[in-house]
Amino acid sequence: MYHSKISGLGYYVPENVVTNDDLSKVIDTNDAWIQERTGIQERRHVIKGDGDTTTTMGVKAAKAAIARAGIANDDIDFIIFATLSPDYYFPGPGVLVQRDLGLTRTVGALDVRNQCSGFLYAISVADQFIKTGMYKNILVIGSELHSTGLDMTTRGRNVSVIFGDGAGAAVLTREEDLTKGILSTHLHSEGQFAEELSLAAPGMGRRWVTDIIADNDPDDISYYPYMNGQFVFKNAVQRLAEVVGEGLAANNLAVSDIDMLIPHQANLRIAQFIQHKFQLPDDKIHNNIMKYGNTTAASVPIALTEAWELGKIKAGDLVVLAAFGSGFTWGSAVIRW
Ligand code: COA
Repeated sequence: MYHSKISGLGYYVPENVVTNDDLSKVIDTNDAWIQERTGIQERRHVIKGDGDTTTTMGVKAAKAAIARAGIANDDIDFIIFATLSPDYYFPGPGVLVQRDLGLTRTVGALDVRNQCSGFLYAISVADQFIKTGMYKNILVIGSELHSTGLDMTTRGRNVSVIFGDGAGAAVLTREEDLTKGILSTHLHSEGQFAEELSLAAPGMGRRWVTDIIADNDPDDISYYPYMNGQFVFKNAVQRLAEVVGEGLAANNLAVSDIDMLIPHQANLRIAQFIQHKFQLPDDKIHNNIMKYGNTTAASVPIALTEAWELGKIKAGDLVVLAAFGSGFTWGSAVIRW
């Protein structure tokens, strides 16, 4: 048995900054409402025609993570890509990364469909492959291109002001010291609430594609994300607290052992609720939703990379990652850095 450690981290966000005031020029919203409810001040959106996609952003984040891990591209044994906004309906972006990194090996590429908790699911899967000795280095990416698919009218304002574009990546590497690295991961789902935060189209289960094309309906909102905001909020605070507690208990650790909590950047109010519940001081939690909005599968690796770059995570620290989102799905990871 081995452990896996995070040996390299990277992130990429598009240069184009979209402020709350920018949004208020196209939809009926305002800076005060957005900041008060979500904490978000600005987010990044790709510029049409610039060429950034979920995959290209993921590759940029991956290159930084690989360089920091000190390995060559061809040392990667497996790729796991988490996103809800793939370039193509199929194939998923994992294979595009295998191509765009120029890997000469035909390594496996797995796509994870777990939305905001996608990165937690992805590193949990990577951890299992490394623990058993099957793989030594796994590239895990969370990347999201929301801006091209949001309803930028007042009709979609409760969703469209929240989400932003970006990518984060981590290289997970075999660790022989079993006191270090990922100590445990914990994953959950509650499918009865699948439709409370969802994007219906172009799902094949409900409508025939031929009918969608024949209808050609400009008011078809099934292509835009739907969110029951208050219901999601209530479940998020409950499940995030639970799954952090579960991770600590599994390792006989207490909240006071946490050196850094990286919560999914869903809403600053959700993160603050968790911080308050656990009575964590400000220097033991890292939030950056103010700058990037909610980047779903990319939010945890972007925040983790940023915290690490800022020197907020040091060798020996206990780092806890936690996420909740559409599905509902949620999870945590407890890591001795
Ligand atoms: N700007 C201005 N007003 C807005 C608005 C916006 N962007 N979005 C909604 N409103 C309005 C609504 O129309 C409503 O007006 P009304 O009272 O006249 O009907 C009012 O604000 C309250 O709407 P509501 O949806 O009840 O707001 P809320 O307090 O629930 O806040 C969220 C909305 C989305 C910020 C909040 O529910 C939330 O953060 N939920 C969790 C979201 C999340 O974390 N999602 C990702 C999970 S991974």
